[in-house]
Amino acid sequence: MPPSPAAAAAFFFACVLVCTACLLTAGADEGDAMRELRRALSPPDWTAAADDDNHCAWRGVTCSSAAGAGAGAGEVIAIDLPRRGLRGSGGDISAVGMLPSLTRLDLSFNSLTGDLPGESLGSLRRLEFLDLSMNRLAGAIPSTLAGAVALRFLNLSNNALSGGIPDELRSLKGIEELQISGNNLTGFLPRWLAGFPSLRVLSAYENSLSGEIPPGLGLSSELRVLNLHSNALEGSIPSSLFEFGNLQVLILTVNRLNGSIPANIGRCAGLSNVRIGNNRLAGAIPASIGDATSLTYFEADSNELTGAIPAQFARCANLTLLNLAYNRLAGEVPDVIGELRNLQELIVSSNGLSGEFPRSILRCRNLSKLDLSYNAFRGGLPENVCNGSRLQFLLLDHNEFSGGVPVGIGGCGRLLELQLGNNNLTGEIPAEIGRVKSLQIALNLSFNHLAGPLPRELGRLDKLVALDLSSNEISGEIPGDMRGMLSLIEVNLSNNRLSGAIPVFAPFQKSAASCFSGNTKLCGDPLVVECGPIYGSNYGMDHRKISYRVALAVVGSCVLIFSVVSLVVALFMWRERQEKEAEAKMAEAGEVVVAAPQVMASNMFIENLQQAIDFQSCVKATFKDANIVSNGTFSTTYKAVMPSGMIVCVKKLKSVDRAVIHHQMKMIRELECLSHINHPNLVRPIGYVIYEDVALLLHHHMPNGTLLQLLHNVDNPDDDNQKPDWPRLLSIAIDVAEGLAFLHHVATIHLDVSSGNVLLDSHYNALLGEVEISKLLDPSKGTASISAVAGSFGYIPPEYAYTMQVTVPGNVYSFGVVLLEILTSKLPVDEEFGEGVDLVKWVHSAPARGETPEQIMDPKLSTVSFAWRRQMLAVLKVAMLCTERAPAKRPKMKKVVEMLQEAKNS
Ligand SMILES: *[C@@H]1O[C@H](CO)[C@@H](O)[C@H](O)[C@H]1NC(C)=O
Ligand SMILES: *[C@@H]1O[C@H](CO)[C@@H](O)[C@H](O)[C@H]1NC(C)=O
Ligand SMILES: *[C@@H]1O[C@H](CO)[C@@H](O)[C@H](O)[C@H]1NC(C)=O
Ligand SMILES: *[C@@H]1O[C@H](CO)[C@@H](O)[C@H](O)[C@H]1NC(C)=O
Ligand SMILES: *[C@@H]1O[C@H](CO)[C@@H](O)[C@H](O)[C@H]1NC(C)=O
Ligand SMILES: *[C@@H]1O[C@H](CO)[C@@H](O)[C@H](O)[C@H]1NC(C)=O
Ligand SMILES: *[C@@H]1O[C@H](CO)[C@@H](O)[C@H](O)[C@H]1NC(C)=O
Ligand SMILES: *[C@@H]1O[C@H](CO)[C@@H](O)[C@H](O)[C@H]1NC(C)=O
Repeated sequence: MPPSPAAAAAFFFACVLVCTACLLTAGADEGDAMRELRRALSPPDWTAAADDDNHCAWRGVTCSSAAGAGAGAGEVIAIDLPRRGLRGSGGDISAVGMLPSLTRLDLSFNSLTGDLPGESLGSLRRLEFLDLSMNRLAGAIPSTLAGAVALRFLNLSNNALSGGIPDELRSLKGIEELQISGNNLTGFLPRWLAGFPSLRVLSAYENSLSGEIPPGLGLSSELRVLNLHSNALEGSIPSSLFEFGNLQVLILTVNRLNGSIPANIGRCAGLSNVRIGNNRLAGAIPASIGDATSLTYFEADSNELTGAIPAQFARCANLTLLNLAYNRLAGEVPDVIGELRNLQELIVSSNGLSGEFPRSILRCRNLSKLDLSYNAFRGGLPENVCNGSRLQFLLLDHNEFSGGVPVGIGGCGRLLELQLGNNNLTGEIPAEIGRVKSLQIALNLSFNHLAGPLPRELGRLDKLVALDLSSNEISGEIPGDMRGMLSLIEVNLSNNRLSGAIPVFAPFQKSAASCFSGNTKLCGDPLVVECGPIYGSNYGMDHRKISYRVALAVVGSCVLIFSVVSLVVALFMWRERQEKEAEAKMAEAGEVVVAAPQVMASNMFIENLQQAIDFQSCVKATFKDANIVSNGTFSTTYKAVMPSGMIVCVKKLKSVDRAVIHHQMKMIRELECLSHINHPNLVRPIGYVIYEDVALLLHHHMPNGTLLQLLHNVDNPDDDNQKPDWPRLLSIAIDVAEGLAFLHHVATIHLDVSSGNVLLDSHYNALLGEVEISKLLDPSKGTASISAVAGSFGYIPPEYAYTMQVTVPGNVYSFGVVLLEILTSKLPVDEEFGEGVDLVKWVHSAPARGETPEQIMDPKLSTVSFAWRRQMLAVLKVAMLCTERAPAKRPKMKKVVEMLQEAKNS
């Protein structure tokens, strides 16, 4: 029966009344809700009482246009408060539940703890963007979140969430980007994810997820990025991922995936990044891989892959890295691989590959690493083994190569490491080896059949740290010229047919006798066999002559280093004086007239910060010494307060290289590139300003200063209460290691690893700074004198003194110094260690002094608990390895990260 008109009208009016009331109360509620939020979170600049009623004017708050709504403000539609140092529990943000029009909530990079307020977030029916990443939220992902049905972007990554992904979330069908990585989530990746029609990004790496990758994932056709590395996923890689051909990034490293690589992978013409290493994948690499023509990285090491390396890789013209090490591949390296003009690393170590040396590879002019080690390659090595290329690592050991060491080796002008051990090489060591002056990490020709004398030209390798010629048939005397190997630390000439007296040369006599044993006619220190009188006189003479020469060489290089250092210091001082004068002039002219100079170029890389930044204020901040936050080797950092209230760090490059400014476009491109580096432990530029010949880089403000300040309490040395606790220090160490490992992974060497360059964010996550310096000052391009003194005093590895080249193992050393600082709470250089002794030497010589680790480690940390002490001892071991004198013995950063994680879990 239809209602009477009167009843209908009454009902209608009642509705209008109720609705008006609810609108009115909604308005009032929003104010209340916002004040509640302010009370609970107290964002630093929400305190201005003047704006008390107008929450829409609070920073980071966006309201809908008030037009048509009369006098009142609009409704809150967005709250953006990333990186504001917010503390409080998840519950403290539950007031947002009373903001029904909220579409966007960004509270990332804060210090929120406790549970997610599922109830109130779930009541936000219009919420499209929720970013709570980089906090310390714990507990489970609440099922009530399912109420936020409009969600398109959900980011809960890098918290401490645990438990499974609740089934109720299956109703969030509109999700486009789901990021839940870096938590402690367990259980399965739900199958219904495969049914989300718009899912574009799924990032769940670094959790403890198990089970299969949902079958059918990708069938909804939008999927671009799938990153699930470091979980415990099983089963196979579903072929559905590639079905629609839209996938661009596939990262599944470190799981337990089995089965084979789906043959339809080639459908993804836009697939640029495939990293599936450290799984249990078997079968052949499908030939269709050649259809993935955008492929840039292909990393499938440590699996059980069989078959041959598909020749079709050659069609991926952009391929930069091909890592197939530790599999069961067989056959030859296809000739056509040589067509990959962009290939920089070919790593096929530890397979069953055979055939001749893949000569075509020499056509890859950009190749810097060729690792064929631990295979069954045979035949001779090509005469022009470098052919003018950029090869830095030539690792051919543990094969069956025969014939001679090619004379053309002399053309390898950039080689850092040559490993030819355990082959079937014959003939003499060519004198041309002496032309490879770049050799630094190792020259290893051990376990071959090399004969003839040691070439005197070896003495020209003055950067080489490790020389291993053991187990060959080398005869004759050890040439005195070898004393030219000024960087030598490790030497092994054992098991040859050498004769005569071992020349007096510190690296020789400091070696163990076993490094010279197995040469029946060899005598002298460090062997126990004394040289007879025949050698006696000659030996003494030689000794005098040589010490003279060594002394000359040492004095010479000292003078050289000293003059380079003085020159650079003088340049710095000259520049600084100029700046001071300029500043003085400005000061005379009075603050008021100080017109900021003409800005030539400026930009912010992060769109939503563009409003908040005033470039002139950035420039002006650098005119006042009072704003200086820190003073590094390459730059001075200032704190700048924007008119908007936002604080940014402004880094003024000490204009070591005017070329930097002259190549502005290149620099800007590099910076833009760097701004996209998405690693939580690397400081990235957010913008820049260029004026006159000055470049200013803008960074986020790091409220907790540097590790140097934290450790050594620079501001307040007597306040021991401020000393950090061990778990925090360990997590800082791991952060820095991860940042550096990432840099090395993308083939970037840091120029200045030191505790002063480790910045701490609001909850003491550590970020490595000065990353851009390595990009802006290219040590290979004429700024060698700068790289010679690169780094901070106390962190510079011993080999830099000779090599004048910054290296990956050099970075590891500097990181080791940072670890020692953390463990001992001592500075890297301090008079208390004694003359000429730095922290590294002090720690390494502790056993000789009869001191135990307890006497080295900071007792304020190590005596707190057994668990801390145990972890500290484990970290001390890592630090000792990192600061090994021989660069070749230092672990890779990736390994360091693993060891530190192990220490943490021990
Ligand atoms: C969180 O994820 C969203 C959506 O994928 C993304 O836009 C945002 O940048 C992420 N936040 C951080 C801090 O990376
Ligand atoms: C992750 O959860 C497991 C148990 O579910 C717990 O033992 C472990 O400590 C947690 N790890 C972290 C980093 O919270
Ligand atoms: C892959 O592993 C799962 C369990 O993890 C097993 O049931 C399955 O048989 C394996 N498949 C292959 C091809 O080895
Ligand atoms: C290769 O890389 C270049 C530069 O990044 C890009 O322009 C080009 O489209 C890529 N080629 C393919 C086939 O993806
Ligand atoms: C080396 O790579 C660069 C890009 O990274 C490219 O421009 C150059 O052409 C390559 N060199 C050769 C010889 O192919
Ligand atoms: C050596 O390099 C040149 C280009 O510089 C190239 O044309 C030639 O083919 C290379 N030789 C070999 C044997 O690969
Ligand atoms: C040289 O190579 C051999 C075998 O390939 C290896 O055992 C040895 O440790 C290497 N020596 C150095 C100094 O790296
Ligand atoms: C090593 O070379 C010699 C001859 O030069 C040959 O007789 C021998 O079979 C080779 N050994 C291997 C393992 O290839």
